Amino acid sequence: MKAELQSDLAFRIRRDLNVSDAYQHAKFRAVEIVQKLLDDRAQDEADVDAEQLRLAVGRAVGAALAGTHLGLNGPERDWLQQEVAHEIQGYGPLQRYLDDAEVDDIIVNGPDRIYVERGGTLYREAARFRDHAHLMRIAQKIVGPLGRRVDQTTPFVDARLPDGSRVNVVVPPVSVDGTTISIRKFKRTPLTGHDLVKLGSMSREMLDYLASCVRARLNVVISGGTGSGKSTLLNALSTFISPAERLVTIEDAAELQLRQPHVVRMETRMPNADGTQEVSARAILRNTLRMRPDRIIVGEVRGPEAVDMLQAMTTGHDGSMTTIHANSARDALDRLEMLLAFGGLNVDMRMLRRQIAGAINVLIHLQRTANGRRRLVEIAEVCGLEEDQVSLQTVFRVADPEDPDTDHFIQETRRSRYDRRLQRARTSLHGQSRTGVGL
Ligand SMILES: Nc1ncnc2c1ncn2[C@@H]1O[C@H](COP(=O)(O)OP(=O)(O)OP(=O)(O)O)[C@@H](O)[C@H]1O
Ligand SMILES: [Mg+2]
Repeated sequence: MKAELQSDLAFRIRRDLNVSDAYQHAKFRAVEIVQKLLDDRAQDEADVDAEQLRLAVGRAVGAALAGTHLGLNGPERDWLQQEVAHEIQGYGPLQRYLDDAEVDDIIVNGPDRIYVERGGTLYREAARFRDHAHLMRIAQKIVGPLGRRVDQTTPFVDARLPDGSRVNVVVPPVSVDGTTISIRKFKRTPLTGHDLVKLGSMSREMLDYLASCVRARLNVVISGGTGSGKSTLLNALSTFISPAERLVTIEDAAELQLRQPHVVRMETRMPNADGTQEVSARAILRNTLRMRPDRIIVGEVRGPEAVDMLQAMTTGHDGSMTTIHANSARDALDRLEMLLAFGGLNVDMRMLRRQIAGAINVLIHLQRTANGRRRLVEIAEVCGLEEDQVSLQTVFRVADPEDPDTDHFIQETRRSRYDRRLQRARTSLHGQSRTGVGL
């Protein structure tokens, strides 16, 4: 509610003003003045201290506004000064939202449209870029430190901001309405399992069950649509892994924040413009097997690495976890099947499904509801093959999938197929805590 009000306020006060060309003109006039000052002093903008910059910007804004008819009030002037400072030392109009702890995602669709997600809802913001060139400059500023450029030959780039936020940039003509930037902000304090229970994303019983699954080293696949909370849940579940284990994580952009001391983080690399120097998830996965990990965590399977992932799961790296983009738990299995076939696993359908059923123990499906909430709609155990189909047993499910607000969950069965393993994990945990070595 608070976020809504804040956004609404920013919308009412500044929309007309902020998007007006006169305002943009004054803003960039002030930016020019400050930049000229820095050039004259041969000073790099990164080296200017905050107070120095504040004073210089204040003066420049005064000069830029003189003779205009903008008539800014106090807060509006403050806002403009911030915007000018963000141009000099930051990511322009995006900086405000990068600094705002209430913002989770930032999406730019061309120079005039900036959206942010607050508390699960997407809002259109009043800020804008001056023009296509301005937006492009900020995009280059984002990908530049990584030694990359985004242009017609490399029209999409994945990058990471210095604070760990994940960024994807696409430029025209691939993105038809102008440069597109999508930012998933890095959360300094990631959501824990308990937070997810408090937020109504799952019940206490579900968390207990999943914690036991992780401790019992079951292989877990988390599925869901874009932004449904897969990585967040993966991260939350990883806290139940014993600190004594050696973990290797493989991600396209490292976002997992594991707390165990024995973690090796690996990141894939996209091919260069000439198609070389790619480091694929599959290549890393194969190498990982020689690094003696106890468990392997793959941020997301989306390609041929699915083959190696499944093999790892059945050959001594049990307790491995990954996520997959899918519309339901059943759909996750279908997609996995497709990835295995694409990955060159040349066996008949039955064998393929047998592999899947033998490797994966638990599927968790997540959903982002129409009003922006994330919840676990189903937790299912894989029970083997039944008439050539992988059979699933639902353990928990959301009571009413049609109701976007419900946080009521149902336990469908108390008899887990993995009862014995779960039981053993629970007992050994109690044993451990008695000796003070527990989690
Ligand atoms: N249970 C939850 N309740 C509220 N917000 C959540 C929850 N889970 C995740 N989020 C927020 O939703 C956003 C998306 O989460 P996350 O990155 O985990 O999704 P994802 O499914 O991995 O997305 P992608 O498909 O882009 O990889 C993040 O900003 C995160 O903080
Ligand atoms: Mg993710």
